[in-house]
Amino acid sequence: MLDIKRIGVITSGGDCGGLNAVIKGIAREAYYSGIESVAIPHGYAGLYNLVKLDEVVLLNAERVSRIEASLAGSEAGHSRVRISKIEDPNKYDRIKDGLKKFKIDALIISGGDDTGSVVIDLISQGIPCVHVPKTMDLDLQSYSVGGDSAINRIAVFTRDLKTTGMSHNRILVIEVFGRYVGHTAFRGGIGAEADCILIPEIPVDFDIVYEHMKTTFFARIERSDVRAGTYITVVAEGIKTANGELLYDETSPVDAFGHRKLAGAGRYVRQQLERRLRSDPEVKDFMQRTGMFAQGVYEIPEVREIVPSHLVRSGHSSAFDVNFGYKAGAAAVFLLKEGKIGNTVVNIDGHTIYYQPTAEVIKRREVDLTEVSIFESLGTCFGRKPQKFEYDLAEIKGHIERHL
Ligand code: F6P
Repeated sequence: MLDIKRIGVITSGGDCGGLNAVIKGIAREAYYSGIESVAIPHGYAGLYNLVKLDEVVLLNAERVSRIEASLAGSEAGHSRVRISKIEDPNKYDRIKDGLKKFKIDALIISGGDDTGSVVIDLISQGIPCVHVPKTMDLDLQSYSVGGDSAINRIAVFTRDLKTTGMSHNRILVIEVFGRYVGHTAFRGGIGAEADCILIPEIPVDFDIVYEHMKTTFFARIERSDVRAGTYITVVAEGIKTANGELLYDETSPVDAFGHRKLAGAGRYVRQQLERRLRSDPEVKDFMQRTGMFAQGVYEIPEVREIVPSHLVRSGHSSAFDVNFGYKAGAAAVFLLKEGKIGNTVVNIDGHTIYYQPTAEVIKRREVDLTEVSIFESLGTCFGRKPQKFEYDLAEIKGHIERHL
């Protein structure tokens, strides 16, 4: 067992749901184990500048009771700073001086793949750390706090947008965060019964999307007694163009982890659909049949893109993330006490704490396309020729497998 008297708590990378529960889980478990915990502000920027602080916030019972676990974001604050890139040859010594100044023996750091890579870096410099998985992108090997909250918010926004889509008979394209993978677009889209979901894992064939849209949307409006209908596409920000390129915000700089701000996926999808609507001779007929056609003003259905952006990771955390966050925070304290440095909490199930080396957990996990095919078989378009879901007879099992 490690003799730890004080833990520093860091949250890093993009904020999201469930992080305040992680902080509370750490603080409360530490307290019951006779260990103090303190919040290091502003993620890794704060760790680097710790030595300059006059005091750190002690996460005692009174302070922790003022943190609302159901609020998204983090009471400890965030930054996207990669320690190894700081232009200061003495940066690691400076960090150690800060830790010494506040008698911090070890760190619990909550973050995603970029944050995890810094955890590994800090450990190589002799700073003991345990990692709690956090990212709304869900691209780690284990479940990460924040994913469920983001999925639920995407589902709610998407579902709510149907009322305006229906009122105007618009085709809506909702672009959502998720970086280079499509987990949140996929799950959130299914949660809202989106008609089409486009994810980076599947190269998009826009002719297929257009045909699906036309069949679904046109029929929906023609079936309706008030001639009302919408067509909803949820698109992950990380989809690639026909040339295989990611869509960036051209004005954004490359950050310390090599990322540029993704932007434009929704616009790209809108343009692809508009182009096909304009050149399709059947569209004018449809507009006339349904009483919408107005020469020179309203000749094709409108396509709008909507970008909820940071809203998908703001506001409130889902109950699941509060549950997971509390448990993962407590589990991180157990791992630290047991000297399981350099590991990431995976879960607590029964009396067992599951963990994995951080270097393994941060390897990118993509959407499972077999699972996608279940929903394709049920009618959702994923921008490719639908693949039929085939089950394996030999794999139909009678036992219960636990899932998070
Ligand atoms: O990694 C989490 C995430 O929300 C991504 O989905 C998104 O691309 C990115 O962060 C946005 O980062 P920032 O808040 O720094 O603009």
